[in-house]
Amino acid sequence: MEENKKYYITTPIYYPSGDFHVGTCYCTLMADTLARYKRLRGYDVFFMTGTDEHGQKIQEKAKAQGITPKQYVNNFTVRAKELWKILDISYDRYMRTTDDYHVKAVQKIFEKLLKKGDIYKGEYKGLYCTPCESFWTETQLVDGKCPDCGREVKEVKEESYFFRLSKYADRLLKYYDEHPEFLEPEKRKNEMIKNFFDKGLEDLCVTRTTVEWGIKVLSDPKHTVYVWLDALTNYITALGYTTDNDEMMKKYWPADLHLVGKEIFRFHSIIWPAILMALDLPLPKKIFGHGWLLVNGNKISKSFGNYKDPRVYIRDTSVDALRYYLIKEVTFGEDGNFSEDLFVEKINSDLSNDLGNLVSRVTAMVEKYNDGIVVKNEKLPTEDIDNDLIETAKSTIANFEKYMDDLKTNAAISEIWKLISKANKYIDLSMPWILAKENNKDRLNQVLYNLVETIRIIAIPLQCFFVETPKKIFDQIGVKAEEVAWDSAKSFGVIKSGTRVSKGEILFPRIEKTEELFKVEEETEKVEDEEDKKGIITIDELDKVELKVGQIKEVEKVAKSKKLYKLQVDVGEKELRTIVSGLVPYYKEEELKDKQVVVVTNLKPAKLCGVESNGMLLAAGDYDVVKLLVLDNNNGTLENGANIH
Ligand code: MSP
Repeated sequence: MEENKKYYITTPIYYPSGDFHVGTCYCTLMADTLARYKRLRGYDVFFMTGTDEHGQKIQEKAKAQGITPKQYVNNFTVRAKELWKILDISYDRYMRTTDDYHVKAVQKIFEKLLKKGDIYKGEYKGLYCTPCESFWTETQLVDGKCPDCGREVKEVKEESYFFRLSKYADRLLKYYDEHPEFLEPEKRKNEMIKNFFDKGLEDLCVTRTTVEWGIKVLSDPKHTVYVWLDALTNYITALGYTTDNDEMMKKYWPADLHLVGKEIFRFHSIIWPAILMALDLPLPKKIFGHGWLLVNGNKISKSFGNYKDPRVYIRDTSVDALRYYLIKEVTFGEDGNFSEDLFVEKINSDLSNDLGNLVSRVTAMVEKYNDGIVVKNEKLPTEDIDNDLIETAKSTIANFEKYMDDLKTNAAISEIWKLISKANKYIDLSMPWILAKENNKDRLNQVLYNLVETIRIIAIPLQCFFVETPKKIFDQIGVKAEEVAWDSAKSFGVIKSGTRVSKGEILFPRIEKTEELFKVEEETEKVEDEEDKKGIITIDELDKVELKVGQIKEVEKVAKSKKLYKLQVDVGEKELRTIVSGLVPYYKEEELKDKQVVVVTNLKPAKLCGVESNGMLLAAGDYDVVKLLVLDNNNGTLENGANIH
């Protein structure tokens, strides 16, 4: 291996959200493909993936499950690693932001930037999207909602530390200009510059005081580091940045490629380079923002109902079939649609027909016509059809390399299929069965040799995409390890005379689209919904909630609040209960008076704007529309205090 031939490639570190779907796998699969390609070309590859384990959302999810955030992220990590194993993701490091070395390094980075004046204390007033863990300015909102996910944002105001992002705006623009290869695809770069630089870069809030689950600021521990400073720095902390052991940092930094989804491209192309500039570190060589995998035009998510565990597809087809579809059918950099029908069609046409049949026909013919032995006959002159096949085979790898180096993975894989189709045509044109009938042994052997050799050349680059098939092919055509080295694919005529071929199992059986195909069995559902199921309660647990009929007797506004009413409610007890409820925006005082409503009566008392509330009224809806659950009890037969089941 040549010195300096290193390749450091990363995926984003995933949020432990529990949603594994084909889209979630996409980025990791692409990174895996590129990592495999570079390894085959002799690079010393360091491929990193992992999990982004801090933040409010995780704190809330863990609480909902009654476990600690650490337990929650541990559970997720186990499941993530299981999935990556099934997909045979060849990562070299799985990094977790709760790892001790990362926590310490982030704390040191923070203090370093604070000392330098690139982080300063201020007050944050802004709009925050909890699911995306992103702050937005008014102008960035779309219809008043989060521009990324379309959900409600909430106003927050708190003491915060800021990263002086604005200071780096000119340097960043200059860098983009001088390094056109830094951000790709080009259109995403232009979009990003237009959307964020044209409005002016604002300093970035990098701490929160309201989130417990995060990395504490050493010099001011009531602050936790806000997710992006924590998350982005993973790319260097994993290499030992800030520790005495920075061999990895010296060897692998700067990263060669950060592969990220389009919605987090801006964080990687603005915030991350600015942080690196502030730390006086070189910038990564390339940041590539890929598109989303859609199902029926929507981003895949449980809330769209278009979510399916990738294991279901692998169960009914194979890991290579799924890998092929995602890599070939989605143009790298663009959004792509995942369609089960097209998936089945592609398995049957490209994998079973084109590739599978080529291998099985050729190996069967060598067995049938020459007892499985490949014979190389260099004396016999080649014919035009041979030359055409040989030339295509020789140019395949060169073209493939060019496309892969340019991250044009779809075009690269198409090059292999061009050769597959040429080989299939070659069989039709050379008609080995006629040669056998005519007993034209020399020509027959020559044709069969050309075919076996072409299959060898095909299977070498297939190793970038497939994890099972290349080995099966190599076994069937009987090639040795040295005959499958990357550069050997650039020469035609490598397989030795006397090599033994043996027809093996069918590589890609045809798939029938039946009702049973891709059906989600309970077992699979159990895995995917493990978290949700933890949220399910038993009837006994439900019984713990005491619900009673209550009648609102008095209504007054809470002085210090725009939203709260102080209500006196009759729940059949000696005294009226004081219940504080945020109904001011939705009901006038007179609309509430005398209504019979549903009251949770055994809720722990809580103080809201200085008033103690002893219970809760049930209501439906949120934000714009809120409706109280009012009893259909006009004739008054149900008494206040009656139990509700
Ligand atoms: N934690 C951050 C990344 C921090 S990196 C310093 C994050 N995590 S994520 O879990 O929400 O997303 C991880 C990656 O999955 C992102 O690149 C995202 O674009 C990708 N995808 C999630 N759903 C996807 C599709 N449906 N299609 C393609 N990629 C998708 O963001």
